[in-house]
Formats: sequence, structure tokens, C-alpha cells
Amino acid sequence: MSEEGVLYEVKDGVVTITINRPKKYNALNMEVVRTLRELMERAEKDSGVRVVVLTGAGDKAFAAGADITEFKDRDSETVRPLAENGQELCRYIESMSKPVIAAINGFALGGGCEVAMACDIRYASANARLGQPEINLGIIPGFGGTVRLPRLVGLGKAKELVLTGDHIKAEEALRIGLVERVFDSVEALRKGVMELAEKLAKKPGVAVKLAKQSLNNAWSMPLSENLSFEVDVFCQTFDTEDKDEGVDAFLNKREPQFKHR
Ligand code: COA
Repeated sequence: MSEEGVLYEVKDGVVTITINRPKKYNALNMEVVRTLRELMERAEKDSGVRVVVLTGAGDKAFAAGADITEFKDRDSETVRPLAENGQELCRYIESMSKPVIAAINGFALGGGCEVAMACDIRYASANARLGQPEINLGIIPGFGGTVRLPRLVGLGKAKELVLTGDHIKAEEALRIGLVERVFDSVEALRKGVMELAEKLAKKPGVAVKLAKQSLNNAWSMPLSENLSFEVDVFCQTFDTEDKDEGVDAFLNKREPQFKHR
């Protein structure tokens, strides 16, 4: 199905959510941000969906940032909802129980890079260019870029990227840990992302959710609190049918068939 500016397609437990404004390099206007938030919530609630893939239409851009045409004539007060909605979308993606994979098929700049950073795993095509170019507009990142970028790539590299506004190539993004894999072409990226999504869709859903939560906590919780959280959720997995299935399958040398409960 299609909402304004965003496509939503489910196949074999994987939903592909596609930002669909290719002529505008999939720039994130407020309508697209609102729709993305709604569709992420739909994916979270849909029991037929195990994994979410987020990408951009075409082969030029994942998203070339917030829609700059919406910046004109806004001041500190009227621009606030734009940043708040973008941040809320990113927070929601991070908090989802299902893995979200960013398939970065070209430019991921500004808000595009920030939304990709909120996803759990980022794969890119060789033509991808990433960066936070806001400084060249006289502004700064507002969808969480100054917060997530240093956590992913370190403070020095994040300062270099945010203060220069320079774009980096996919290979450089791979080297600094901003993406996890690079593929030769957009076609190869889409195939590689689907293989990953199908692999993750077969993993035990409760364990996936709890592992994601515990890993996210590594960013936000003090060490001792996070370690005791891990013990709690580790124990929780022992009450699932999937733990019985996984252990039995191992001991009987067969493939597990998880039921996500
Ligand atoms: N907001 C609104 N429109 C955007 C956009 C954005 N962030 N990024 C690209 N577009 C539009 C362009 O205005 C152009 O539209 P038009 O054909 O109606 O003029 C179209 O997308 C293609 O972009 P164009 O600049 O012609 O392509 P290019 O290949 O020469 O350059 C970019 C591509 C991505 C390098 C360049 O578009 C760019 O720098 N975009 C802005 C990136 C940015 O600053 N993002 C952060 C915003 S906070």
C-alpha cells in the first residue's frame, strides 16, 4: 500500500518502508516524517511483520535531509515541531521491538543520515554519500545527529563531519563504523539487505527484542544498571518456548523452528 510520499510493502515477514519522493532526493518534509512515524507504528503492531527495512525510492538517495523548502520563513519557535517530530520518529525506531535495517541507496544527508543512525543496522551501496551538511545552511543537525553520530563514530570524527558539513563516501562510512556493509550497486544492496532481513526474521522474536533493548541501554544506562538489566532479560528468555526449541534443536542436531513466544 502507499501513503503520501511513503510506500509500505510486506513480504514473508519483512516490511519494506520506502521514502518515495525520488525527484526531491527523498527529502523528508513534515508529511513524510509524520507518515513514516505512523507506518513504523503499524509495522510494530503487525504480528505478520518481524523485520523492517527502511530505504529510499530510486538509486540516487536514501534521503537528502529534511526538506529545506520548509525552513524558509520559520523562526526558532515555528521550526521547533519540525525538529521534535524528526527526533520523535528516530526515538520510536530505536525503541521498536523489531529490528530496523537502513538500506542506504545513495545520499543520506542531514535528517536522512540521522534517521539511518536511529536504525539498528545500516547497509549501503557504493554510491552512498553520508554527512551532516546543516552547517552550510547556517544551522545544525536537529533530528539527533549531534547525539547519535559521536556515539557511533567517536567525538572527534563526529565534530569533523558536523563542523565541516562534508559528505563522506560509503567506504569511509564503513571504515569509521557509520555503516556495517557496503555493496557494489543499489541492486546488490537490495539483495543483501533482503538476505539479512530474512535471516533476522527467522530468529526468536522475544530474544531479538530483549537483545536490542539491552544493546540500546549500553548507550544510555550506567554500567551496573545495564548489567543487571541484562541478567533480568537473559533470565526472561528462559521462560520462552523459543528457548526450549533452540536448546532442543541444538541437542538433537536439527534446525530450530522459532515461534516468537
Ligand atoms: N530539501 C529539499 N529539496 C532537496 C533536498 C532537500 N534536503 N535535497 C535535494 N533536493 C531537491 C533539489 O532541490 C532538486 O530539486 P529540483 O530538481 O526541483 O531543483 C532535486 O532534489 C535534486 O537535487 P539537486 O541538488 O539538483 O541534485 P545534485 O545531484 O546536484 O545534488 C545533493 C544532490 C544531495 C548533493 C544536493 O541536492 C544537496 O546538497 N541537497 C541538500 C542536502 C542538505 O543540505 N541536507 C540537509 C538538510 S537539513
